[in-house]
Amino acid sequence: MIIVTNREPYSHEKTKKGIVCKKSIGGVVSAIDPLMQERGGLWIAWGSGGEDYTVSNSNDEVLVPDDDPKYLLKRIKLTKDEIENYYRGYSNRVLWPLFHLFVEKMHIKEDYWKYYLKVNEKFAKVVANYSKEDDMIWIHDYHLMLLPDFIRKEIPKARIAFFWHIPWPPWEIFDTLPQHEELLNGILKSDLIGLHAKSYVKNFAECAMRNQNAKVDTKKCIVKCDNHKTKVKQFPLGISYKDFSHSKESLEASKNAKNLKELYEATHLILGIDRLDYTKGILNRLKAFEAFLEDNPNYKKKAVFTQIVTPSRSEIKEYNIMKKEIDETVGKINGRFGTEEWTPIKYFYRKIPQQSLLEHYKAADVGLLTPLRDGMNLVAKEYIAANEENGVLILSEFAGASEDLEEAITVNPYDIKATANAIKKAFDMPLEEKQKRFNSMKKKVKKRDAKWWIKNFLKEWEKIYA
Ligand code: G6P
Repeated sequence: MIIVTNREPYSHEKTKKGIVCKKSIGGVVSAIDPLMQERGGLWIAWGSGGEDYTVSNSNDEVLVPDDDPKYLLKRIKLTKDEIENYYRGYSNRVLWPLFHLFVEKMHIKEDYWKYYLKVNEKFAKVVANYSKEDDMIWIHDYHLMLLPDFIRKEIPKARIAFFWHIPWPPWEIFDTLPQHEELLNGILKSDLIGLHAKSYVKNFAECAMRNQNAKVDTKKCIVKCDNHKTKVKQFPLGISYKDFSHSKESLEASKNAKNLKELYEATHLILGIDRLDYTKGILNRLKAFEAFLEDNPNYKKKAVFTQIVTPSRSEIKEYNIMKKEIDETVGKINGRFGTEEWTPIKYFYRKIPQQSLLEHYKAADVGLLTPLRDGMNLVAKEYIAANEENGVLILSEFAGASEDLEEAITVNPYDIKATANAIKKAFDMPLEEKQKRFNSMKKKVKKRDAKWWIKNFLKEWEKIYA
């Protein structure tokens, strides 16, 4: 098994304690690292850590995780220009906004595309060097859409699958991207393409149908393009359930969760956790909490909203601007409503340790996860797994997870008033209803976990060569 991603699973960084091995954040790493830890194999990715090449061998390889090595990580060096144009530029200022339906945030620039091509070719050369014909090459996410085509040019019979971790938009949006045809032709050299939600599969098939070179068998969901067949299917990603529900850390966290509510002076605790991103709807959510306090003054000095934001892509302009807006909005709301003893919003801008994360999940009466658009949103599933019974999930209808978790209170995050009302509804919900909804979601999150996802994906992939 060869995994190929842009973001490496572990980076090496210099700290006061010396060089440390840090696990990367994001959906791709949390999904694939457990598989690799179990099966072993090779992971190829951009080596982005400050000390990555100090600890790697002369072939830029290192065994990870460093405290208990399980698989080999081959790091690819990117130049400053490649990082600027391929990663920050084309991947994160063109593809990311486009696939999350923020067309107006797309920045089209010739160099971005030039470098995207170049870096995809660079990855392909490394993959070709490391692989034999019958290896399973599993590529992930939007940074590497051209890779299946480039690999197939080097190894025509390569076994390639692709998992797409973000939404796939309708044709009318996809069409606005100048290079949409090249990208589709590139990814369609995979044998299998997986997406999180039914609607994304439908959109993908529609985009393929509009492509001049492709023919789509809609019943079997097979796309034929340039004499190559690609199966396209939905595989909703799950989480590693036991890590959140009954691991050693989880049991320990259960003991401390009560203290957390006391510490925050909260009788009603709401929780939001996100990577810093304009797609996550953090500003709308803060405004919804403000509207809730306006409409329900009896919750003053009682309700507390904890928002944890994990730093991400801070060198990109749009993210920097958003960070400032969040800081200001939190300050404004706390200044307006706060008292000497009560701070309505507890805001943390940092990656918090697993133990503290679990305590927050367990202590929260309401999980408020309202992205404007999100491929899946695993935080929603983590909250369900970790919380012990009476939690209420408020979930955006624009998160892939809302297809799985129908028992959540779903909201349109653009509708501030409706989100505020959903908070009230969650607090007022009778215990019996809370438990019914919660237990039903818990069952699904437990059953359709990360292992179930991987098993289904691999089964479908192997079927292709049987
Ligand atoms: C999302 C994407 C991943 C990405 C992660 C973190 O989960 O789907 O591909 O790795 O965000 O973003 P970053 O730009 O730091 O890799």
